[in-house]
Amino acid sequence: MRPKAELHLHIEGTLEPELVVELARRNGVELPTFDVEAIRARYDFVNLQSFLDIYYENMAVLRTEQDFYDLAAAYLERSGVQHAEIFFDPQAHLVRGVPLEVVFGGLSAALKDSDVPAALIMCFLRDRGAEEAEAVLRAALPYREHFIGVGLDSAEVGYPPSLFRRVFDIAAGEGLHRVAHAGEEGGPDYVWEALDILRVERVDHGIRAMEDPALVARMREERIPLTVCPLSNVRLRAVPTLRDHILPAMLDEGLLVTVNSDDPAYFGGYVEDNYRMLRDELGMTEDQLDLLARNSFEARFDF
Ligand code: ADE
Ligand code: ZN
Repeated sequence: MRPKAELHLHIEGTLEPELVVELARRNGVELPTFDVEAIRARYDFVNLQSFLDIYYENMAVLRTEQDFYDLAAAYLERSGVQHAEIFFDPQAHLVRGVPLEVVFGGLSAALKDSDVPAALIMCFLRDRGAEEAEAVLRAALPYREHFIGVGLDSAEVGYPPSLFRRVFDIAAGEGLHRVAHAGEEGGPDYVWEALDILRVERVDHGIRAMEDPALVARMREERIPLTVCPLSNVRLRAVPTLRDHILPAMLDEGLLVTVNSDDPAYFGGYVEDNYRMLRDELGMTEDQLDLLARNSFEARFDF
């Protein structure tokens, strides 16, 4: 297996059905079903929102520091990567009454105990608005040494990056790295805004940037990395099948593309599975896969 860095991975998206059931039992949380295959059978998504509904629902089982520790430890154990930058969604826990201290405590302890070099990137849920994002950032500053950057995720269309200018400016002032989901379901205008207004250093997904030649040229010239997630794009129907994926064309354009798993418990595979499917389904060559793996290290943040 070639060495790789994972740069686009939501820790809550690594919550496998087996762990959903185990944590529900441990915490006395009611579930619609305790049958792991029945849980998996629900993972038939038609778009981003249909996934997010189940993703947030399943998080109800994450209650204690130990739960967050177990979640992150399980991911790091099976990740198959040599470097991991891990997103987490504090607002999805705060709204359920789980304090930041519990989230940071469990995740940070698991990262510290792992042999895989890993760091946290705190994401704002764009559909909860800019005011709440700013409040969360301020509340997280006492934990500043526990995270290296901020990101922007959740429902994209209707929540353009420009809404979050202020909170990203504050993050920049704190010396935090900046990334944002853009161009997953939203158009190239979302990617422009992420670059120009949020001053992001990487674009998460960004596949729709390919619709705008001037944007492609900008990203090539500035070597702005894109964290593409092929299996996620298929499962959320951003592309019809893996064979239709634009990733080879992105490489041909000279873009700094990386391959990542996004929410592997929901989309049918971890990062190595994404590489394997690109080879088997899309016919990508070993040289192309080597380049993608090298790109992942060029695109990483130092910590
Ligand atoms: N949260 C978790 N996965 C996501 C994705 N693919 N897009 C937006 N928000 C997310
Ligand atoms: Zn994502």
